[in-house]
Amino acid sequence: MEQYVIKGGNPLVGEVDISGAKNAALPIIAAAIMTDETVYIDNLPDVTDIHALLTAIESVGAVVTRIDRHSVRINGSQVRDYLIDGEHIRRIRASYYLLGALLGKLHKAEVALPGGCNIGLRPIDQHLKGFRGLGATAEVSYGHVVASADRLVGGHIYLDVVSVGATMNIILAAVMAEGTTIIENAAKEPHIVDLANFLNSCGASIRGAGTDVVRIRGVQHLHGTEYTIIPDQIEAGTYMFGAAITKGDIVVRNVIPKHLESITAKLVEIGCEVEESDDCVRVVSSKPLRRTNAKTLPYPGFPTDMQPQMTVALGLAQGTSIVTESLFENRFKYVDELIKMGANIKVEGNSAIIDGISEYQGADLSSPDLRAGAALVLAALAADGFSTIDNIQYIERGYEDFHIKLQSLGAHIDRVDSEKEATRYKFEIVS
Ligand code: EPZ
Repeated sequence: MEQYVIKGGNPLVGEVDISGAKNAALPIIAAAIMTDETVYIDNLPDVTDIHALLTAIESVGAVVTRIDRHSVRINGSQVRDYLIDGEHIRRIRASYYLLGALLGKLHKAEVALPGGCNIGLRPIDQHLKGFRGLGATAEVSYGHVVASADRLVGGHIYLDVVSVGATMNIILAAVMAEGTTIIENAAKEPHIVDLANFLNSCGASIRGAGTDVVRIRGVQHLHGTEYTIIPDQIEAGTYMFGAAITKGDIVVRNVIPKHLESITAKLVEIGCEVEESDDCVRVVSSKPLRRTNAKTLPYPGFPTDMQPQMTVALGLAQGTSIVTESLFENRFKYVDELIKMGANIKVEGNSAIIDGISEYQGADLSSPDLRAGAALVLAALAADGFSTIDNIQYIERGYEDFHIKLQSLGAHIDRVDSEKEATRYKFEIVS
């Protein structure tokens, strides 16, 4: 079984390049099949969720030409099938973007209920409400979501909860509908703006993305384009917190600092120095970390996808901190793993109460989901002694070359596929 083996204690120091944003690339890949012309996309992250979605669009007839690790050509002119199923697709959450894309293109879509990280209940009622608001029928039937429409007609849709996925899915379904669609209480994440920019570059007419009211004037068809995905704000934030947690000094390159404001603000609050330039952010952690409180919120609030990294940092801060998770009810599963490392954390309801300790101790750990897995790696990098982390397939869903980038920052980490290899690595590091 693949695992990371880590010897803690080295501060992360150096420069790291951030890859394209997974959560922007996924809806954009789905959107790419909506036009019959060829689309070129680059700055795709080389992570398993992207590969799974590319395979899924091939299964309904899209022609995907992989140009290099980070760029593809997609031609959706032969997309006729509307059924998305299979083991690989059930594992990724973003399969649901194919509902909006296929409904918009073919007026019919059937997708196996999405999987993804197990971070709590993940309803899709707002997606279905949105499709219905455009005149479609949309139901869950025998484990599949089925949506269809004779005509898609623009509508006024008010989201009951701010949902990234529902906002994107409604944009996809509405982009070629008749008339104008208005989404109110829309999510404002940078990846929503990126999807809208991509579709607009294909001839769509979407205004207001990045605010809570998005207006989509339906167009008759979309054309080809060339598009570069934005940098991954969560990957960037993970390395920024890596500097904080390991007492390091990291320049995180190829980022949009504006997208990182809530992360930067928290790092400053806990005692790090953060310097921003055009497309880089430097984080220096030279003083003891200070306590604070944090609550996850939709963008521009502090992201739920940074909650575990924040908790790991506060686990080493002086005093008592409270981290409150307001989006997903099951996102503290990693706390049990941190407790194995000596952390002093109690979870009560949707809050973690953290009494900082001076150092984590190495332990054998298991990654419960993507972001928690990455956070445990950061804890292990700061810990005294060796740690192993298994279930790293979660981490590889969303972090390109995670252990390689960390090695380039001076981390003692390797990816091994047997206990024997882990022992060999430990022996090499010690001698
Ligand atoms: C996206 O998930 C991301 N996934 C998640 O990242 C991220 O944590 C989340 O947005 C929040 O930023 C992808 O982009 C593939 P939501 P999504 O719909 O779209 C409730 C990662 O690590 N809700 O914004 O599924 C829901 O329960 C992943 O990369 C409904 O009630 O999240 C939650 O409380 C993990 N009904 C809140 O809204 C719905 O129909 C926000 O969920 C939809 C959502």
